[in-house]
Amino acid sequence: MFARPVAALATTALGFSALFLPGSAAGTEDATARHRDPVVIAHRGASAYAPENTLAAIDLAARMGFAWVENDVQRTRDGELVVVHDDSLARTTDVEERFPGRAPWKVKDFTAAEIATLDAGSWRGPEWAWARVPTLKEYLNRVDANGQKLLLEIKKPVLYPGIEQDTLRVLGEEGWLDRAHVGHRLVVQSFGADSIKAVHALRPDITTGFLGTPAVADLPAFAAFTDQINPSHTSLSAEYVAAVHALKGPHGRPLRMNTWTVDDAEGAVRVAGFGVDGIITNNPDVVRDAMGRAPGAAGVSVAGRTVVP
Ligand code: G3P
Ligand code: CA
Repeated sequence: MFARPVAALATTALGFSALFLPGSAAGTEDATARHRDPVVIAHRGASAYAPENTLAAIDLAARMGFAWVENDVQRTRDGELVVVHDDSLARTTDVEERFPGRAPWKVKDFTAAEIATLDAGSWRGPEWAWARVPTLKEYLNRVDANGQKLLLEIKKPVLYPGIEQDTLRVLGEEGWLDRAHVGHRLVVQSFGADSIKAVHALRPDITTGFLGTPAVADLPAFAAFTDQINPSHTSLSAEYVAAVHALKGPHGRPLRMNTWTVDDAEGAVRVAGFGVDGIITNNPDVVRDAMGRAPGAAGVSVAGRTVVP
């Protein structure tokens, strides 16, 4: 297991945000292409070791040598996109103490300014009290500064009509819709098929993913608008992975598959044996070790200094 590098994280809090990932297997992987070994994707950042969906979690993933991070995007009352998993702020922030009269503390009922004041780290331990719920804009800029790549999930899109357009607007404003990002550093996924259809219709060049396990007979319909079928590992078999890979997606390439959430070595070996293209995990180091790779974190350069977690 990976020990928390609290001192190293503190340097990030002080402004050392430009990480340069090494040219290791993990640092050069591309979740849009097929590989012999699955790409390891840090779920909500390195969320086994840092508060999920915070800048601390993606900074730690970078320090551990992981290029791909996954997040969850929702919308505030005043239209700001923020990175948080639950549709309530109660589990991962101090919102109940700060705003006791506003149960059930839905993201959509709070302004961005209110959310920005919340402590999004103490629930994981007092050392994380400084962590905040990032806006998507802040999050994208940090992923960029870290040299990382993003599997962006539009979370519960039925709660947020038009969130697809909002997401694309912010991506464009922050420079994420240029050829380099769209071609190699961005995948947009959702459990909502209509949401992914909307993203594909608005920006057909973006790589998309559907979260779920459609019946094999329905896969051709999904292949019209999604490049990836990303199922729970509990629903997988080698036959299902092969059925997905046998189809071509909207960009004329075989469909890919990133499975979630695989947090132990045995599970990682199992799904790798099925031939999945990526493994989404809270424990990216455990999965990497299970794949028999050398740690990519050795020699990570932070603001010109070498940091070995
Ligand atoms: O990326 C896959 C996974 O994040 C989907 O489930 O609930 O963790 O967003 P959830
Ligand atoms: Ca997610």
